[in-house]
Amino acid sequence: MNRKTILSEQDMPRAWYNIQADLPNPLPPPLNPATGEPITPDMLTPIFPMNLIEQEVSTERWIDIPDEIIEKLLMWRPTPLYRAHNLEKFLGTPAHIYFKNEGVSPPGSHKPNTAIAQAYYNKIFGTKRLTTETGAGQWGSALAFACNQFGLELKVYMVRVSFNQKPYRKIMMETWGAKCVPSPSPDTNAGRKYFEQNAEHPGSLGIAISEAIEDAVTTENSKYSLGSVLNHVMMHQTIIGLEAQKQLAMVGEYPDMVIGCAGGGSNFAGISFPFIRDKIHGKEVKIIASEPTSCPTMTKGPYVYDFGDTAQTTPLLPMYSIGHDFVPAPIHAGGLRYHGMAPLVSRLLMDGLIEARAYSQLETFAAGLMFARTEGFIPAPETNHAIACVIDEAKKAKEEGKEKVILMNWSGHGIIDLSSYDAYLSGKLVDYAMPDDEIGKLIKELEKYPKPI
Ligand SMILES: Cc1ncc(COP(=O)(O)O)c(C=O)c1O
Repeated sequence: MNRKTILSEQDMPRAWYNIQADLPNPLPPPLNPATGEPITPDMLTPIFPMNLIEQEVSTERWIDIPDEIIEKLLMWRPTPLYRAHNLEKFLGTPAHIYFKNEGVSPPGSHKPNTAIAQAYYNKIFGTKRLTTETGAGQWGSALAFACNQFGLELKVYMVRVSFNQKPYRKIMMETWGAKCVPSPSPDTNAGRKYFEQNAEHPGSLGIAISEAIEDAVTTENSKYSLGSVLNHVMMHQTIIGLEAQKQLAMVGEYPDMVIGCAGGGSNFAGISFPFIRDKIHGKEVKIIASEPTSCPTMTKGPYVYDFGDTAQTTPLLPMYSIGHDFVPAPIHAGGLRYHGMAPLVSRLLMDGLIEARAYSQLETFAAGLMFARTEGFIPAPETNHAIACVIDEAKKAKEEGKEKVILMNWSGHGIIDLSSYDAYLSGKLVDYAMPDDEIGKLIKELEKYPKPI
């Protein structure tokens, strides 16, 4: 009985899968908020290098991964596919539970799959310095690692509440040579507005994105890098699902279900898009994205055009959103706090190819603890949302007496998130579901923009 399935380095995929080639309905374009007209690629050049903009709009099905990126990805890839025998036994389920362990990368999550690619394309374009935002610090540390590998400078705006709760992520970023400041910061116009009102403002991803974009467009030789949401980021992550397809074939299985947690959508896209391609071509496979009840983008938000950031500096993106003014409840320790969802993931939800579920933070930590106490690995709080959904489905399989095959993306480890486990274990965490009238207020602002179709 296989506990883990390992691919050889030669079997690591050499091309990314671009789902834009197979979408039943094309993605509505991003819009210029001032004119309501579609954004053209050249309008994005102050923010991103042209080689990444080309990937953003590409409809080629396969894009070759350059050798320089392959060489870096091989530092930790291919990642192992585990069969969670102990969890299955604990649950007494006939389901076969597989998890793809993306926690084995140097920063500890799936994020370097795109960080390495983005640092490389910026490097060959001539960018000298990148800026970005980070929530819990996984993305900031992944980009710090990648920039270090390619000799780029990096400044990270880290959401203040996490900056205070997770000092080790900042130390990781500095170890790889990046600069990390709490956001809102006094360093940008976007941040100063909030910082001057309250120097201890908890911050949000929307504010931190505004700061990082402003910094990039006002500093010479700088570009901005985003760790999720965008089409090219989803594509860089598909290496996860492409590997998993090969690994499952090695053990003679095909999933009945593919499950991932979703913040901006990238690890979910990474594991699921290659299987959604199969689904579009007739395979029966259920695809589930799992999000928190305290930031219920897909389960409570409408499909609208919204800004990607709080200061309204990005184009309008067609996505499920609870509004760009969203600031997470301070009690929330479970990650996944972005107000929107990747346009590609949003489109697939709209078209019924995937479904979304929301879990409360106590449910997700209970699931994470069960996982840690059976399979050993301590999951990131974000990953716990996927685990909660897997446990639900494994219990359902038990009730129905069905041998379902469940594939989950184990998006990262939680070794640097132990303070949130401490809060859970000492009874300090409570459940919080965002009230409907609060969501209503946040999205009212969006009524003046066109509706995506
Ligand atoms: C371990 C882990 N999983 C999931 C996420 C959510 O991001 P995304 O939805 O882009 O995968 C994050 C974000 O920081 C993360 O660190």
